[in-house]
Amino acid sequence: MIRSSRMWLWLYPMMLLLGVLQEVSPGPACRISEFPCRNGRCVRLNGYCDGQDDCGDMSDEPTYCTVCNRTYYGDVGKTYDLRVVKSAEVRLPFLCHLTFTANGQSHGDIVQLIFDEFKLGRYEASALDGCPDGYMQLSELGRPFTGGSWCGSSSGPAAYYSETSTVTASVKLFASPQRPFAFRLRYRFVSRREAVVRFGSPAAPLERGQVAPGTYCTRQFEECYRKPCRLQSPNYPGMYPRNVSCYWSLRQKFVPTCKHAMIAVRQEAAHKMHMKRSINVAGLNKTARALRAWRDCTGERDHLIFYDGGSTNDPVLAKYCGGDWLPRVVSRGPEMLVAFHSSPFSIPLHSPPSQSPLRGFELDVDVIFADSDSLDYSRESLRCEFDVNATSPDSDEIWTGRGRKDRLISPRHSLPPNTTCSYKFKGYPQDLIWVSFVSYSQRALLVGESAQALLSNSSVGGGCATKLKIFDGVKLIDEKCDEPPKLCDHSALINSTRITRPCTLSESYLSTGRTLLIQHHTEDGTALHPASFKLKYEFVDTRLGGEAWADKKQPGCFRVFKKMHVGEVSSPRNVFLYGRGGAKELHCVYRFEAGVDERVKLTINNASFGANPNCDTMQDPHSNRQICEYYPGGRVAEVNVYELPWKDVRMPRGCICDNSSLNSRPVVFISSSRTLELHFTAKEMNITEDFTVLHFRALFEIIHTPECSRKQRIRGYGGEVTFNNPPSGREEMLCQGIPWIVEARYNRSLFLLSWGAFLPLKPRSEEPTRCPTSNRVLIYQGRPPKLVKVVCPAEPNARPLAVHVFSEEWWGEGLSQIHQRPPSFLVEWIGVEPGIAAFNWLEISRSRSSLLQQLQVPVNASANETDYECSHKCPELDACISSSLWCDGKDHCPSGWDEAEGQCGATSKLLNSLPLAALAAGAAVVSSIILLICLALHRLRIRRRRRLAKKKLLTGPRLVDPGYNS
Ligand SMILES: *[C@@H]1O[C@H](CO)[C@@H](O)[C@H](O)[C@H]1NC(C)=O
Ligand SMILES: *[C@@H]1O[C@H](CO)[C@@H](O)[C@H](O)[C@H]1NC(C)=O
Ligand SMILES: *[C@@H]1O[C@H](CO)[C@@H](O)[C@H](O)[C@H]1NC(C)=O
Ligand SMILES: *[C@@H]1O[C@H](CO)[C@@H](O)[C@H](O)[C@H]1NC(C)=O
Repeated sequence: MIRSSRMWLWLYPMMLLLGVLQEVSPGPACRISEFPCRNGRCVRLNGYCDGQDDCGDMSDEPTYCTVCNRTYYGDVGKTYDLRVVKSAEVRLPFLCHLTFTANGQSHGDIVQLIFDEFKLGRYEASALDGCPDGYMQLSELGRPFTGGSWCGSSSGPAAYYSETSTVTASVKLFASPQRPFAFRLRYRFVSRREAVVRFGSPAAPLERGQVAPGTYCTRQFEECYRKPCRLQSPNYPGMYPRNVSCYWSLRQKFVPTCKHAMIAVRQEAAHKMHMKRSINVAGLNKTARALRAWRDCTGERDHLIFYDGGSTNDPVLAKYCGGDWLPRVVSRGPEMLVAFHSSPFSIPLHSPPSQSPLRGFELDVDVIFADSDSLDYSRESLRCEFDVNATSPDSDEIWTGRGRKDRLISPRHSLPPNTTCSYKFKGYPQDLIWVSFVSYSQRALLVGESAQALLSNSSVGGGCATKLKIFDGVKLIDEKCDEPPKLCDHSALINSTRITRPCTLSESYLSTGRTLLIQHHTEDGTALHPASFKLKYEFVDTRLGGEAWADKKQPGCFRVFKKMHVGEVSSPRNVFLYGRGGAKELHCVYRFEAGVDERVKLTINNASFGANPNCDTMQDPHSNRQICEYYPGGRVAEVNVYELPWKDVRMPRGCICDNSSLNSRPVVFISSSRTLELHFTAKEMNITEDFTVLHFRALFEIIHTPECSRKQRIRGYGGEVTFNNPPSGREEMLCQGIPWIVEARYNRSLFLLSWGAFLPLKPRSEEPTRCPTSNRVLIYQGRPPKLVKVVCPAEPNARPLAVHVFSEEWWGEGLSQIHQRPPSFLVEWIGVEPGIAAFNWLEISRSRSSLLQQLQVPVNASANETDYECSHKCPELDACISSSLWCDGKDHCPSGWDEAEGQCGATSKLLNSLPLAALAAGAAVVSSIILLICLALHRLRIRRRRRLAKKKLLTGPRLVDPGYNS
């Protein structure tokens, strides 16, 4: 097929020798780059046979002379020209060899040829023999002969730079003598130092690899991460030879531990990327930086093939045959093979005057290192599969947020065409997978034929260049063809100073089970059709522990632990319950239920309430329990423990709200009854907060202790309760910690009588308390129990120290609630040091007159009836009590009026204690007179107040309630 007779090949060194001998013989006067005239002058070598009398004696213009079959030398810095003329009558085939030698030093190291005029037969691009009339071939001393040829007519000058010191241009014409023939060139000798485009500057030489022996241009490159490696077309920056095949193998041998190396090749600069044949330049659309690739690269086009590995058996990442840039092509592993093939025939590549004179191409090489355990690259060639397995939700790493949540990017290396990458997410049972795409892009670089050729053959992609499928388990939940999936792209703006809002579920994907599969398919390969994405994933642990409350459903978490003897309980780790998952408030209640003769022990080991909790865990001065004291404006974030002695009564047992309170030792709670509750609450969560900063961990244990069998929730007409510390008996000991509840019937009120002094509910810490004991009686009212009185207890029945407490509605407060719930008191004994205390209680009701008074009905009309309104009345309370309490041998009215002699008459009991009874009666008379005066005063005052505040019900008389005076 290649017509060139190879005869001249072996002739050529001989000619060279002859040429040299010719030049040397005339005498030492002329340099090698000069022609010695017969007259002794020295002229340029190209002066020979140029049609001008350079010597002055015509010795450089002999008859029948020819410029052919000669060797030319020259000096660096000078440009010489040469024209081959062919007289019309010359015999065919016409053969002409022009040899140029750079002889080192001032004669240069390499040869530059510029073909200014080139008309040499026809060029037939699609023919098997592209140069039917004749051609030019270039060969270099010491390099294999390629056999490629140039022919046709070049429309502009084309440059060639030799790789070695000697190049021979051979012109051969064997047919069509009538065709115009023109062959004119300039030549220069260039020193290596000057040739910076090829070799780089002496200070920063380029790494061009070593030519493999016996090849024209096969080179090996190693360790390109240290050196600026360049893949240059042969004879760069001039036109490259025809019919060459170069194999450039790139290899990174040194890979740091825990790293994975990949090799990238690219060229963005248009002036360094010339592969188009000159004939195509006019037809190229300049507005689009179109690339020619794949099936567009037919036989007569020069092309580059990028292999994903070290051999031609490895998958092809890209086949490229033109364009003014080369997108980045990246190998999967530390080896890449780039093959370059030029076609056997062509017109010399010329550079239009407006463009860079450089021809050929140069590619930059980078070595990319990825973490070897990352998902940034595919582990195996040919398969692109990733297992994303969750780490155990029970490992300690969960608290730091690692292992179950990360970012993932599509492979950083190029993928061969028709590749599908699968990401299999697998969580633990009860895990869900939450995936948000931060970015997704795909860009067609191929247009026209190149793109069509690939797509029409597609089988997997179904007509899509890029296809994305998302499976929830085995169910396809989304499918995108050349379009982005649901994006959460605002999260791409996250940086160290900016945090963006959480991705919503309409911007992301959430599985319904523990597996999720993402398939990303590229039809054209990602080298020439880049397609990439970035996503965030998280394994969401939905476990809450225990069982759900029958009556409570999400969004809060209400869990109950029963029939378990020991276990761990911790805050939920479901991100959707926290700020980072989009929630504002979190409220979780964990209830621990023990059985008969059992109690709950709860140990809180660990808790965190955010980066800067605005709260201190303090000790309540009365109860000695931990309480949460929030700073003004502080948001609520706390763990609160309650005891439930009865199903409907929650007694606070302790509150923790700062991060340091558990540093030294865990906090332990042991219930007095069967049920304990832990409430974990966080309000106003911000968008970064999750279970890594808001959490607690606790241990619960069921312990055996006989339970309190005494009935401490009481109803009736009245009674008496005493407290002792230390407890007076086994029963009292077992009932320690359980409060007393006294409940009235509907439409009744309650009255408590105790002994001691009222203390401020919230004493200021610096103020010394005037109470001589640290024991307390705490009186609560309402649901949830609200502390209304704190009593510093004194010896019971010490009348001057009596303190009275009426249920709220007695004074007209909370009248609206009176019908919903009967009044009740909850009384708690805080026994810290030895001591006793007691309280008496009475169910009371208003006398008719005082009720009318309270309801602001005028009483004057029925003044006479007031004496008969209730038969059993404690006058000092202005309250009716049950008749069963009357004269039962115990004082119920604070003054003992119910047992006074005048009330009960002579009874045996009374007779037995006559002197005492007489004394009491006397006292009663005195006190009743005082009381009457008081009541009169009180009525007066009421009337005055009523005038002042017509509508509003005010608190009642303060006289009988010393608590209001303290
Ligand atoms: C050059 O040399 C070759 C033989 O090597 C010969 O065939 C050819 O005719 C010569 N060319 C000219 C123009 O003399
Ligand atoms: C170049 O391509 C663009 C779009 O790809 C097209 O609009 C324009 O007409 C083309 N120009 C030429 C000269 O072909
Ligand atoms: C992930 O789990 C699967 C099976 O569950 C296993 O085959 C695979 O090796 C695991 N992958 C990794 C990276 O741990
Ligand atoms: C693409 O790959 C699939 C399976 O990997 C194969 O069945 C199909 O034939 C391939 N298509 C082309 C056009 O190579």
